[in-house]
Amino acid sequence: MAEENKTAAASQEQVQNDDDVVTPFEINAKDDTGIDYDKLIDKYGCFPITPELIARIERAIGEKCHRFIRRGIFFCQRDIEQILDAYENKKPFYLYTGRGPSADALHMGHCIPFIFTQWLQRVFDVPLVIQITDDEKYIYKPEIELDGPKGSIAMGLQNVKDILAFGFNPDKTFIFSDCGYIGHMYQNVIRVQKHVNYSQIKGIFGFKAEDNVGKFAFPPVQAVPAFSNTFPHIFGKGHFPCLIPAAIDQDPYFRMTRDIAQKLKYKKPASIYSTFFPALQGKKSKMSSSDPNSSILVSDKPEDIKKKINKYAKTGGGQTVEEHRANGCDLEVDVPFQYLTFFMEDDDLLEDIRVKYAKGDLLSGEVKMQLIKIIQAFVVELQTARKKVTDADVEHFMSIRPIEKMPTKWLAAKASSAVEAGVTLFSDSVGNMQTASV
Ligand code: TYM
Repeated sequence: MAEENKTAAASQEQVQNDDDVVTPFEINAKDDTGIDYDKLIDKYGCFPITPELIARIERAIGEKCHRFIRRGIFFCQRDIEQILDAYENKKPFYLYTGRGPSADALHMGHCIPFIFTQWLQRVFDVPLVIQITDDEKYIYKPEIELDGPKGSIAMGLQNVKDILAFGFNPDKTFIFSDCGYIGHMYQNVIRVQKHVNYSQIKGIFGFKAEDNVGKFAFPPVQAVPAFSNTFPHIFGKGHFPCLIPAAIDQDPYFRMTRDIAQKLKYKKPASIYSTFFPALQGKKSKMSSSDPNSSILVSDKPEDIKKKINKYAKTGGGQTVEEHRANGCDLEVDVPFQYLTFFMEDDDLLEDIRVKYAKGDLLSGEVKMQLIKIIQAFVVELQTARKKVTDADVEHFMSIRPIEKMPTKWLAAKASSAVEAGVTLFSDSVGNMQTASV
């Protein structure tokens, strides 16, 4: 099926007759084994991340891929080959991701794309733009105000501090809030709005006639950062390729964006998508801000983390120690093991736990204990980094300023080859005095 047709078909199906519900607003798997991601790949017209693709990425970056790729957590993509083609031909691209401020603090699920984007920015050394959709959350969530200390604009600024704790490159990262930057985006927003109609938005996002018109108008705002001319201070009028890391719930926006890009003769953005970090209660739903008991927040204290995991994390183990030892553990539904696959760095140790836990040699309490230590260490590290983020840092990252597009190593290679060319040229024709001034 052609990509454009998949856009509409996927949306209609997901609303009408699918067992798993996956939209930007709701995730609900049919049972505790979680979302059928293979089915989503097919339905959305994405492509799996194959071992060949992983090998190609590793050749391009000269190091091992992030554990999220090695373990299939980032599991599908569109047009990543084109991004690699560009990079291998020394043509820069940029990264685009975002956050919708619905709470003061991020939860562990939100960390997944930010950890991965930080890694992508480090290994490719390219510009990154981060959209804070303070308009979106005000429009979509009846209980969220726009202004005031608990309004989406203020929460967005708090979220920026959380985001900066991940260690993005201050020379190559631009963070913008929609309410602040909209004037710069507006020409592209109306270009997109002109090319998408009511039925398409209704079909893709499942909106109803009684939904407010802001919901219908918003998707183009999330689309346009995928077009580089939305950021003239970085890219001028040029059209640079864009790669979007996110969880798969954001794909409806970017299927729409790709359709419109074609009509506007812009480059279609590439994307790379992750599975969901599950709720503590199980893989039927994702970790979410709307249910505090389902989530571990980046602002939680070590003792809260311990309490939440011990009390709420659903396990696949037996009811009694004897039953567990006899029958083993169902890792497919076990939340502590799922969390370890996201956060335990050591592949060998993870495999050892997998084998022993599945057989029943390891108890759920023992696995939870290991997990608690890892999550506590991660959160404490993030909180320590966040404490160092100042208002001046936020201002810097959000300032409209030029950003170098080329990876530093390309610039260094260019500079040294220019020097070499200079040396050859001047020593041949003019002499040493001239060489020194090259
Ligand atoms: P938001 O704030 O809901 O989520 C921010 C990012 O976190 C991902 N995410 C998760 N990933 C793994 N497991 C989870 N449980 C989980 N929950 C959320 C989301 O997919 C997202 O990548 N509309 C967007 C903001 C946005 C954006 C973007 C996101 C604007 N432009 C471009 C990605 C790319 C939103 O409300 O995200």
